[in-house]
Amino acid sequence: MTRVVEGLRIRGKKVGCVPTMGALHAGHLSLARASVEQTDVTVATIFVNPTQFAPGEDLDKYPRQLAEDADLLAGVGVNYLFCPQTDVMYPPGSSTSVLAPKISKRLEGEFRPTHFGGVATIVLKLLNIVGPHVAYFGQKDYQQVAVIRKMVTDLNVPVEIVACPIIRDPDGLAMSSRNVYLSAEQRQIALSISGTLREAKERIESGNRDGYEMVTEMRQRLIDSGVTSIDYVAVANPDTLETADPIELPVVLLIAVYVGKTRLIDNCIVDPS
Ligand code: PAF
Repeated sequence: MTRVVEGLRIRGKKVGCVPTMGALHAGHLSLARASVEQTDVTVATIFVNPTQFAPGEDLDKYPRQLAEDADLLAGVGVNYLFCPQTDVMYPPGSSTSVLAPKISKRLEGEFRPTHFGGVATIVLKLLNIVGPHVAYFGQKDYQQVAVIRKMVTDLNVPVEIVACPIIRDPDGLAMSSRNVYLSAEQRQIALSISGTLREAKERIESGNRDGYEMVTEMRQRLIDSGVTSIDYVAVANPDTLETADPIELPVVLLIAVYVGKTRLIDNCIVDPS
């Protein structure tokens, strides 16, 4: 993979990379399309990275559908697919990892303390192997993009990071590989996540500036809709992810909940422009 991209770079080609864990949906394909449009050659990666799952999380049951994913990627014009085995990415004796930046400690980091260290490590390894000019990530994983941007800046990784908008199903549910775990009834409950974000955004846009009250109301709306448990609901500064109270625009609204055993996240930016 490294040699292929070196050859492309020598020939003056701009290379885009779309790192994924597979089980691809329209959200992933929008990243791939962005790369195909904006670069000369696109490399997608599929690797279900064990180090970003904590014990008890869904590593074993994470959906795997390599042949189908390969067809989907080819269909949108992806040129190369890199899908290494675990012992290639983490050979015996491999023991160096990235210490994720401070922004990783908040929100997701409070509930999944080892998650972003695993993400930062695998993303750095993939970027080192592929060596793209640009790498594409989904805005749905808002904090992940912030962690990756900071890691790339702090460690002088010569790559541009592009974040692409969240892709939603027509009913508003943000696309996620984990949506396949939801029953029809759970899916209805899960719709309250985007509904809660939409209503909060409207209230902020119409002048509400009480961050504490906003979070309280969002939590109540989610509980009333039947979510199983809430990890966090936040109204935060989009750069630092610190609580925004009083609310000063722009802000980002973030939610992480369980519907049954499925953990779902979503977010939305409220920007005066
Ligand atoms: O967003 C994902 O699918 C993963 O966290 C990533 C960035 C591919 C790293 O494993």
